[in-house]
Amino acid sequence: MAAHSPPEAQLYTDFLGSGEPWKSMYRSNPWLLPPDTRKPLEWGTGRYWDTTVARKHPYWKDVALPTPTQEIETLRQNLREWGFCLIEEGLSPAQLETFRTRLFEQVEGERLAGVDMPTPSGQYVNTLINKGRCFMQCIEQNPESVQAGPVIEQLLDETLGPGWICHSFLSNGSDPGGYPQALHIDQGPMAPFLTTEAPALVNTMYIPQDVNEENGGTLLIPGSHKIMAEAGSGGEIGELPPTINLEAKAGTILMFDGRLVHGTGANKTDKQRFVATMSNVKSWMRQQENWILSVSPEVLAEASPKLLHRMGFQALTYGSTIEGFGMGAPGRVGDAWGNLKCFREAYDRGEYVRVGELSSHPSEQELERPYTIKRANEMVKAARKESKK
Ligand SMILES: [Fe+2]
Repeated sequence: MAAHSPPEAQLYTDFLGSGEPWKSMYRSNPWLLPPDTRKPLEWGTGRYWDTTVARKHPYWKDVALPTPTQEIETLRQNLREWGFCLIEEGLSPAQLETFRTRLFEQVEGERLAGVDMPTPSGQYVNTLINKGRCFMQCIEQNPESVQAGPVIEQLLDETLGPGWICHSFLSNGSDPGGYPQALHIDQGPMAPFLTTEAPALVNTMYIPQDVNEENGGTLLIPGSHKIMAEAGSGGEIGELPPTINLEAKAGTILMFDGRLVHGTGANKTDKQRFVATMSNVKSWMRQQENWILSVSPEVLAEASPKLLHRMGFQALTYGSTIEGFGMGAPGRVGDAWGNLKCFREAYDRGEYVRVGELSSHPSEQELERPYTIKRANEMVKAARKESKK
């Protein structure tokens, strides 16, 4: 095979091996190169982490960049024009208190238990869905835990189209003395989905304490979603405008386009700083978090049809089918057809029976095995019968 597969004979090598848009982005903007994490972080040389908040930035201070608001029309315009918008008091003071207390307790607990996830930027807290009711309800955009829930849902419906699911919900720390993240876009490690029309991923960032240029406020390049999309898949990037640090009060919610260039900022204070990032994607995309396995039985037992759908438990033709179950299903919230919960519950009980090799003359015992797929199909039939009543 190797002798018959020289690089020039292979399919799509120009596109897949182009290294774009990153190659041209770094060539045109060397100040965007990530730091060498073996050396102390450099300041005063104009690198991307060495910046400030928009209102103090010489390039951005006179530009009308998004500021926190509850006006949906402004949120729409900001998201379209700048690739991000800020929802003022997305969490009410009481919701913020619950969220912050739970998150900071978890941060401490995970460190003490030795299950924390350190990164060059700071501590991460993964799989928030299992770590507090408030987090689970944020995934549902339930107004009980996030008062801006209906606004977020509306904007996600508009940007991702119906049927979108949750990709992940985790907390990113920026630790004192940590390194900034390399700037990136969340819509995939390369750019196969870069289209000018709309994003395929949208982030919702919960901000549990004030963030600014001092404590590692997220680095953003306003409007870069358009530049990336206009370059297109495999296209080249010219000079980019400078980064800003996100400035926002605790309780604000940042929504941003999956094509926006961003990354965790460097924390110059002596306190850890956390934000919690939720990504949402098209229904057919692979999720960052494999909740099918990781969600706790307790959360699963209580999960609403909406939460099941968001976690990827609602199989459809394009994704997550189990032994053919879900093939052809439209992926609707609450539909018995494609609902994978019974497979996971059978698995948890140690009773998941898969269909394996069968001979053309199966034994009596093989014919009578309690195959889980049979049970799942029966449940769909029963639900259909019920709905016809
Ligand atoms: Fe990111």
